[in-house]
Amino acid sequence: MNASLIYHVTSSLDGYIARPDGRLDWFDSLRQADEEYSFQYFYSGIDALLMGRGTYEALLARGGSWPYPGKPCVVLTRLALPRAADEIQLTHCTPAQAVAALEEAGFHRIWLVGGSLLAGNCYTAGLIDEVIINLAPHLLGAGVPMLATGMERGLTLNEQRRFNSGTLQLHYQVQKQASQPTQIPSPRVNAA
Ligand SMILES: NC(=O)c1ccc[n+]([C@@H]2O[C@H](COP(=O)([O-])OP(=O)(O)OC[C@H]3O[C@@H](n4cnc5c(N)ncnc54)[C@H](OP(=O)(O)O)[C@@H]3O)[C@@H](O)[C@H]2O)c1
Repeated sequence: MNASLIYHVTSSLDGYIARPDGRLDWFDSLRQADEEYSFQYFYSGIDALLMGRGTYEALLARGGSWPYPGKPCVVLTRLALPRAADEIQLTHCTPAQAVAALEEAGFHRIWLVGGSLLAGNCYTAGLIDEVIINLAPHLLGAGVPMLATGMERGLTLNEQRRFNSGTLQLHYQVQKQASQPTQIPSPRVNAA
């Protein structure tokens, strides 16, 4: 069985996952019991987490205990940062290598926590299989985009759900496409 990488994230309607300074107050305060229950159901179904250093540092800055206990969490970084819990592994490798290592170790459903830079690179590398987006009823105007880098891809909507706060959850399958051969343009002939 191949591992599945699932990007589950909360976004504003205009496609931002955090304010420009990283604050998440615009959706944290909206979360109600039904959304929390849905998250816990999702969390119980994943085997491991993959996150970028920016997201890890944002979680550390919030203080308190590690919010994702009981599941291995691979943090991609070149830095030597403190480990907030025994489950955390800080490593410097490509996302594809990290996913392959998790799969090799028997972890098949991997939550790509974010953030934007890592998710963008995973996406353009063709690694993301599913996108679960919680679309908050909020326009931020500016911020950290859902995917820092992009390309065109079709999605198949599998499920949709509305939470009491007005947040919509949309669960998509990313359509895998065979990579297109590179088009090398023919040299231009000047008609002068
Ligand atoms: N709304 C949500 O649901 C949600 C979810 C997640 C995150 N967030 C927010 O998103 C923000 C962080 O996102 P971000 O885009 O700034 O950072 P990020 O994607 O979390 O982390 C980027 C860092 O990861 C490391 N990295 C290692 N390999 C990488 C690769 N192949 N591609 C990209 N990065 C790689 C690099 O750190 P080194 O320089 O150390 O190597 C890079 O600077 C925070 O504000 C967080 O709160 C929001």
